[in-house]
Amino acid sequence: MTNILLVGAAGRMGTVIAGLAKERDDLKILAGIDVTEPKEALGFPVYTDYAHDELNDVNVIVDFSNPKALDGVLTFAMDKKIPVILCSTGYSEAEQAKIHEAAKEIPVFFSANMSIGVNLIAALAKKAAEVLYPGFNIEIVEAHHNQKLDAPSGTAVMLADRIKEALPDDVETVTDRSAIRAARPENQIGIASVRGGSIVGEHEILFAGPDEVVKISHSAYSRKIFGNGALNAAVWLTKKPHAPGMYSMDDLL
Ligand SMILES: NC(=O)c1ccc[n+]([C@@H]2O[C@H](COP(=O)([O-])OP(=O)(O)OC[C@H]3O[C@@H](n4cnc5c(N)ncnc54)[C@H](O)[C@@H]3O)[C@@H](O)[C@H]2O)c1
Repeated sequence: MTNILLVGAAGRMGTVIAGLAKERDDLKILAGIDVTEPKEALGFPVYTDYAHDELNDVNVIVDFSNPKALDGVLTFAMDKKIPVILCSTGYSEAEQAKIHEAAKEIPVFFSANMSIGVNLIAALAKKAAEVLYPGFNIEIVEAHHNQKLDAPSGTAVMLADRIKEALPDDVETVTDRSAIRAARPENQIGIASVRGGSIVGEHEILFAGPDEVVKISHSAYSRKIFGNGALNAAVWLTKKPHAPGMYSMDDLL
C-alpha cells in the first residue's frame, strides 16, 4: 500500500486527488498539509505542519501547492528518506537548484504537467521541430482559468524546453514582445498566455511556415488527468525502491 502525504490538500488539485484516491485500493492518502482549511471534508486530516506522529507512516509526498511549500516538503522528505512528487509550477532558478540538490539524496519526480496527453505532444512537437526548424516559426499559445498565479504556464515552458532539445543552442524563449520593435528572428520560441474563466488548460504549438501552418494541441477537460498521473507516479515510485535522482513522466511512460 502506498501511503501518501498530500501537500496543497485544500486546493483545487488537492480536492480532485482526494476524490480520485477514494476509488483506488493500491494507495491511501494518510494526511494533507496546507496553510488553509479545506472547504469540504476530504476523508483525512489536514495539518499546517509536519510535526505529527502519524506522518511516520508516509512513504511518498505528492505536492500540488506553491513554490513557497518547497523547503518544508524537501526537509521532511530528506529527513524521512522518502520520494517526493513535485507538481507545483513557477519554481525560481534558486528553487530548481534546491530540487536538484535534494535529488542527490532522494528520488524526486518533477513534471510541470502530469497528463499522458501533454507528455505525448511534447515528444511530437520535438519531432516536428527537428523537421520544420528553421523554416517554420515556433509559437506556443496557452490558456488557463483566471485564478492561475503563474504565467506563462509551467507546461508551456516545459514544451518550449523539450522543443529546444532538438534545436541549436542560440534558440531563446520569448514571453513578452511589448518592448521589442523588430521583425521576428528565426531563433525564437514565443509563448503567449491567455487567462480567463474556468479554462482547465489549453496548449497549442504552432509551426508557422511560408504558406502553411502545422498545429499540435492539447485540451484538458478535467483536472483528473493531472491527479491520475500524480497518483500513478506515487505508486510507481514506491512499489520498488528507486535510487536518488530526478525522474519525470518520460520515466513513468
Ligand atoms: N503538474 C501538473 O500537472 C499540474 C496540474 C495542475 C496544477 N498544477 C500546479 O499545482 C499547483 C496547485 O494548483 P491548484 O490549481 O490546486 O492551486 P490552488 O491555488 O487551488 O491550491 C494550492 C493550495 O496550496 C496551498 N498552499 C499555498 N502555499 C502553501 C504552503 N506554503 N504550504 C502548504 N500549502 C500551501 C494553498 O492554500 C492551496 O490550498 C499550482 O502550482 C499549479 O500550477 C500542476
